[in-house]
Amino acid sequence: MKKKNCFTKLIYSTNFFLSIMLGLSCVGAPPHAFSKTEEIKFPDSFEWCVATASHQIEGNNKDSDWWEFERRGKTIENEDRSTKATDHWNRLEEDTQILVDLGVKTYRFSLEWAKIEPQPGNWNKEALEHYKKEILLLKKNNIKPFITLNHFSIPYWFAKKGGWTSPQAPHFFNRYVKKVFENLGHLGIESWVTFNEPVWNLISGYVLGAFPPGKKDLKLLAAPIVGVVKSHALAYKTLHKIAKKRNIPIKVGLVKALNIFETLRKWNPLDHYARSILERVYNLSLLEALQKGRLKFSFPTIVNMDKELKEAKGTLDFLGVNFYTRLFVKFTFSPPFIKTETVAAKDKITEMHWEIYPEGLYKVVTKAHQMFPKLPIFISENGIADKTDKKRIPFIKDHLYYVYKLIKQKVPIVGYCYWTLIDNFEWAHGYRPRFGLYELDLKTLSRTPRPSAIFYKNLIKKKGFSYEKKGFK
Ligand code: NOJ
Repeated sequence: MKKKNCFTKLIYSTNFFLSIMLGLSCVGAPPHAFSKTEEIKFPDSFEWCVATASHQIEGNNKDSDWWEFERRGKTIENEDRSTKATDHWNRLEEDTQILVDLGVKTYRFSLEWAKIEPQPGNWNKEALEHYKKEILLLKKNNIKPFITLNHFSIPYWFAKKGGWTSPQAPHFFNRYVKKVFENLGHLGIESWVTFNEPVWNLISGYVLGAFPPGKKDLKLLAAPIVGVVKSHALAYKTLHKIAKKRNIPIKVGLVKALNIFETLRKWNPLDHYARSILERVYNLSLLEALQKGRLKFSFPTIVNMDKELKEAKGTLDFLGVNFYTRLFVKFTFSPPFIKTETVAAKDKITEMHWEIYPEGLYKVVTKAHQMFPKLPIFISENGIADKTDKKRIPFIKDHLYYVYKLIKQKVPIVGYCYWTLIDNFEWAHGYRPRFGLYELDLKTLSRTPRPSAIFYKNLIKKKGFSYEKKGFK
């Protein structure tokens, strides 16, 4: 019972005993469970989307750093290897039909640098033709291609030269980006993403040892982050320069993973400190570099990064936000000194051992919007690994409810991509986690829509859904 209602009733009550009872309940009114249904409607222009990444679905990415990493042994859960992945490379027609069936307006996918440039300066025309075919197929079906230029994997030759730590990284990346735009830029692609989740990629590769190059040293993190910021800034300028010359309207952005970080032991100042460092390194540092042209983060005695990167300032036309979970942070006395844990009830945990925390999407987007009040925001990824498909529909609804709330508050969110279309190769976790709206049969590679795919299709058709809100008041 709401206190206001409670006191109103008290004022109008003429019965003495009733007044006493109501008075008591006003002081300590017990919470009441409620459920109410709200019709959630999204604007007509809202871009319904699904997202994928080349290495995770195409197969045969033989010239990439991941191909080599997967073959080192003990690097991937169950010793899985991407190998044929979902064989998307050979199933363009079939998978485009799935997108058509779902009714998505936009398809976010990535180009594989290692396939386009398998050896330095050696361009694979067949790969470029393949992507051209994919883009034209999408356009023919009125689906907007939303392209990511780098989604984690890189050519092995580039990795051997030091990857993002190499002083030549911006030059190599720029050469690739230029080639891509010269070949595909005229096909009518509005939005280009330079990097997907670069900070998470580099933490995984240089601090946690879970991604290539498989290093485990916090000291090593600074150099590749600088390399990525410089590469992004240069690519941003190059894309705009060529597009302007050819009179092609484009938007260039970056996709950032944002997490909610909470202090694990509230009484422990070291945990608070560890949380603040992670917040800065993971969530803030790169965004700030793009906002102010200065990259700043430190880990006392190990890394002290404070670098002017003027060229990065203002190099975003939109921001992609990937949101998955909330983590609790604690300090540990052995490297890397910061540890994260998932704290949640069993029914709120996914196959990735991540907490389902929809409100977090609201919080991270609010922060991003405060940092970049003028920028359009795309929810470039949000999804759940759930083989049973029992949690997926509520997951999507709960997250979209917060997207809707943000739009109502005039936050310029232009679209939402569910991650992902078909179960795929989930990096260090191999094929175990099942994120797909479509189930992949690992033997036959056939794709079967899960109930959540039907739900997503209907939601797109209706531009909304009936949302049953549950809670206490
Ligand atoms: C974000 C990454 O961009 C994507 O590649 C990955 O599969 C999902 N997170 C799920 O972990």
